[in-house]
Amino acid sequence: MRFPDAGGTKVIYFDNAATTLQKPETVAKAVAEAISNLGNAGRGAYDAALHSMRMAYETREMINEFFNGDGPEQVAFMSNATEALNTAINGILQPGDHVITTAMEHNSVLRPLYLKEQQGVALTILPVGEDGTISSEAFEEAIRPDTEAIVCTHASNVTGTALNLYRIGEACKRHGLHFIVDASQSAGILPIDIQAMNIDALCFTGHKGLFGPQGTGGLCLKKGVTIRPLKSGGSGIHSFDKEQPHSMPELLEAGTINAHGIAGLKAGLEYIQQEGLERLYTREALLTKTFYEGVRRIDGVKVYGNFDQEKRAPLVALNIRNEDAGKVSEILWEDYGIATRAGAHCAPLMHETLRTTEQGVVRFSFSSFNTMEEIKTAIEAIRETGSRVKRTLFKNTLEYVWKTVPAIFMAAKEPYIKKDKMTIKVSKRNKIINKMHKNNRNIDCSFDIIMLY
Ligand code: ALA
Repeated sequence: MRFPDAGGTKVIYFDNAATTLQKPETVAKAVAEAISNLGNAGRGAYDAALHSMRMAYETREMINEFFNGDGPEQVAFMSNATEALNTAINGILQPGDHVITTAMEHNSVLRPLYLKEQQGVALTILPVGEDGTISSEAFEEAIRPDTEAIVCTHASNVTGTALNLYRIGEACKRHGLHFIVDASQSAGILPIDIQAMNIDALCFTGHKGLFGPQGTGGLCLKKGVTIRPLKSGGSGIHSFDKEQPHSMPELLEAGTINAHGIAGLKAGLEYIQQEGLERLYTREALLTKTFYEGVRRIDGVKVYGNFDQEKRAPLVALNIRNEDAGKVSEILWEDYGIATRAGAHCAPLMHETLRTTEQGVVRFSFSSFNTMEEIKTAIEAIRETGSRVKRTLFKNTLEYVWKTVPAIFMAAKEPYIKKDKMTIKVSKRNKIINKMHKNNRNIDCSFDIIMLY
């Protein structure tokens, strides 16, 4: 693709988990048309206002059908998944409740839950294995008599690993719990079935897998779920009531909806319907698998997450040796025009699990608009960057050794350096070597430092 701000230069966009930048052409067209043609939905009986209301209703119908929800009126538009998650978490949980979540979560789940914890909600956070997986049984085992809800992501934004929502939802049903799902990384990518997964509150964003504009998203609420709104204000109906209307979607939609954005979201949904979710996913999965297979054996590359899953989010997070993820991402952008996201990805517990709180990870996230050629270019870029990082680390190590621990060489019987391998033999176990390991985080374990008596 070409970014206008890169002077029209060809670049490779692999940050689709943050937002999809390549959208169907119809999306921009729909937004542009909406800006000039749509009035305020539900606030007038003239053409422009009615067009807006009709368009919003049709989009609710499409979303409801897409996720197999409980009816179009149960779809409330929100500005993003974060707003939907805040609404569901604050609106359903009460002091005295117990809630189960996971260490896979994004801050859009964790922070509202920590806030609830301060207000008297008990919180259990299920740990995640190093490969990024968590068993469905772990959820059931954590259920207590006072448990009110399970809140979890469909797929991790760091590793791409997906949770089995069918099994977790089934446990929720059996134990009479509310099931709140963060579908930020899965809506428009993985199949979501509110009925079959027994989801009470599906929180989704519009600007990622659904190809809509930023500032769109929503909450699909199961009928019969009692929820308190986060906001109150104008709804276009019951103007003389002091309370927010109790009917959906007005209960959760105070203020003017983002009709211009929703028109774009509708075009995104139409595109997915035309192409077929399964077909798009097959393509995304093939790109992901090819990239994963291409990078996982490159010397010094560590890939995070579980790639045995049949359905997962189409992303790959990796590191090269112990080089800072931000530095690697910078090299990829500056030298190869490859856009990735690096550092911590707003999922602190996931980074703690992966032990990447300091280093971060470089995340490559794909969409069906990416090509196999782009994947191959990126694999080569990683290979070259890996060699560069290795050379730099080796040089740093050598410099460090020469500058700070000449004693090693003094004590050495046969120090020698061959190609990229450094072997130091010393006559007795030398504390300095241990110290060197501790103090210099740049020392890479693949260098041979052999100590002999
Ligand atoms: N939560 C988004 C991401 O993972 C922005 O990049």
